[in-house]
Parts: sequence; C-alpha cells; structure tokens
Amino acid sequence: MKINENYLNLKDSYLFATVGRKTAAYKAAHPDREVIRLSIGDVTRPLAPVVIEAMHRAVDEMSRAETFKGYGPDQYCYGYEALIDSVKGSYARKGVQLASSEVFISDGAKSDCGNILDIFSTDNTVLVPDPVYPVYLDTNIMAGRKIVFADATEENGFLPMPDESVKADIIYICSPNNPTGAAYTVEQLEQWVAYAKKNDAVILYDAAYEYFVSDTAHARSIYQAKGAKECAIELCSYSKTAGFTGVRCGYTIVPEALVRGGHSLNKLWARRQSTKFNGVSYITQMGAAAVFTEEGERQIRENIGYYRKNAEIIAGCLDSLGIWYTGGKHSPYLWFKCPFGMDSWTFFDYLLENAAVVGTPGSGFGKNGEGFFRLTAFGTHENTERACGRIAALLRK
Ligand code: MLT
Repeated sequence: MKINENYLNLKDSYLFATVGRKTAAYKAAHPDREVIRLSIGDVTRPLAPVVIEAMHRAVDEMSRAETFKGYGPDQYCYGYEALIDSVKGSYARKGVQLASSEVFISDGAKSDCGNILDIFSTDNTVLVPDPVYPVYLDTNIMAGRKIVFADATEENGFLPMPDESVKADIIYICSPNNPTGAAYTVEQLEQWVAYAKKNDAVILYDAAYEYFVSDTAHARSIYQAKGAKECAIELCSYSKTAGFTGVRCGYTIVPEALVRGGHSLNKLWARRQSTKFNGVSYITQMGAAAVFTEEGERQIRENIGYYRKNAEIIAGCLDSLGIWYTGGKHSPYLWFKCPFGMDSWTFFDYLLENAAVVGTPGSGFGKNGEGFFRLTAFGTHENTERACGRIAALLRK
C-alpha cells in the first residue's frame, strides 16, 4: 500500500497544536503563574437560555417512544425542516432568498471547508489569501492541489482584490476575516464574483464571523453580491454566532444555480453528504433551530455584545500603545503589528515569558502574517482586562 504522500508536505503540526504545546511547556515550568489564553478563537459565554431549553425539550422527546428520533430526514441530507427554515429566515432578513434544498446542515464550517473539496477535481488551482485560516491551505495540500496566493498586506488593509493575471478555479474568501479581522463590503465582493465568473471558478465563502459585522456596508453573506448564486458556496457555523464550538453545528449553502462542467454542484454535494455523513444529532439541531428565533437572536446578540466589549478593551490597549492593527470592529479578532520589530514567534515567546499571555503568531497564518500577532476577543471580560493590563505594563517599559 501507499500512504497519501501529500500529507508529508504539511507542516509538522496544526498551528493551534503548536501554540498549545508551547503553552503547556510554559505552564509546566511555571506552575504558579496564571496564564491567560487569548489565542484560539474559542468562545467563553454559555449557550443562550433558549438554546438550552430547546435542547432539554429535545432530550425529553428522545426519552419517549412516541417522540423518539433515529436518523434525521433524508430529504435534506438529515437536516430537520425546523432548522432549515430558521436558516432560510435568517438569510431572508439579510435580503437573500434560499430554497430548502440549498441548505445543508453540518457539524460546523471547519469540517465542511475540508469536505466540500471532495466534489472538485484535484487538478484545480486554488487561490487562498495570505495570511489565511490554515484549514483552507492544509486541506488542499492534503489533496495535492496547486495553490496560489492573494497577498493580504498592510498596504491593501489585508483585503486583497482580484488580480486578473492570476488564473484560479477555487477561490477562498473569509469575511469578516480570520485571522486579520478585516471585512469586505458588498461592492468589493461583487468584484470577486465578477472575477470568479470570468474564470469559471467557484468561491468558497466562509461566513463564520458574519454576526460580528456592525454596519450595513459590510457584507454578511456573499449572496448579497449580485450574481453570487452562480459562482459561490457559503459555509457558516453556529460556533462563533451562538457559542456552539463545543456543541458542533453549521450549515453550507450550495445554490441550485451553481453549475460547473454541465453539472449541478448542489446535486454533487447532496450525493457526497448522503454517502459520507449521517447528519447532526437531533438534540443539537433543535438547539440550533432556537438561535434564529426572535428571542434567540436577542440572546445571542447579548453574547456578541459582550465579545465586542472585549474587542474594544483590546483596541483601547493597542491605541494607547500606538500599535497599528486591523479588526475588532466587525470581528472578534484584532490583528496587530508586533512591537520592537519582533517577528511573530519571538513576540509570542516574549509575551508568554513576560506577561503569561498567549496569543497567536501571525506567521502561523502565512508569510504575510510574519511580524503580526492575533488576539481574540472571545475571552472573559476579566481575563481580557487583565491580559491588556499586563501587555500595556510590559510594552510601556
Ligand atoms: C481560530 O482561532 O482561528 C478558530 O477558532 C479556529 C476555528 O474556528 O476552527
């Protein structure tokens, strides 16, 4: 037998595994020091009460023969209609109309980001921004696809626009962006849509952070851009919207109008999912279906407001230190220039050693991330304030 040798082209470990290992080593060496983690974008607020109530109800249903559920309905690849309808409702409020057959329920955007590649040939060329969420890159390295980069830099505000001289078949866009926190406007996305159509390409749009968009000029969905249904798949998740990182639920939109090589991508994805996936648990789906109810939206917006406040605290700290940054406004991430001209990992070590604060080195997201650093606003107020106090004290020295 032969292994998939493409795996040998990957870096030794996933970025957050390296951060975790370094943090554990520091803790082992300094057991008395309290380490504050503002690295991986993991949420800290509990689930909204409506979600908990809906999940309790679903657990009770599972306890009675009359209401017990086994596999989900196969009509929509195991997505329950109540959840699909609520996703459609949330899109309708953004001005986007979807059919039920276009909404696929999954266990989150990360898995679907990797899985969606099953329906595309490995001969395709992939365009990813640099810096980038490592999953887009690593999943394509695993498949052996050719990868080209769109440079996101300080000069373009970390929002690269299409370069007509580059030919790509699959285009990744994440907005609001992970890791930089920068967000595209609808008009900017329309330029990407025009480019994708010209190249007969497909955009894979990661909208995981859309609930952090705080005005109407910035896009919450690629489908707000005209013509996007003919060239884009959108991946989204309840993780950052509703604190589901430990629950696992998301959705992927594959429009019926999306056709390549004479074939419906919606049909290919439905075939892939019904073959390789048995759906998300009923209890989880019922919890998720409560998120986009009126009360659910009110409650999740309270949590998002809580994280926004953290972003303001971090932004205030960076402002007071005169450090350049993006993000924080439409995003839970703040992306800033490492002080004293340090490279990203040197600053990571410096911050850990001297302030016991863990962030994420920008270079872990690509070459253009070198010299930058990411902090997450998903921590608690208390930890965010204490971390900023320590950072300010250290960098003011
Ligand atoms: C991050 O910190 O970049 C994210 O939490 C990772 C993820 O969502 O998988």
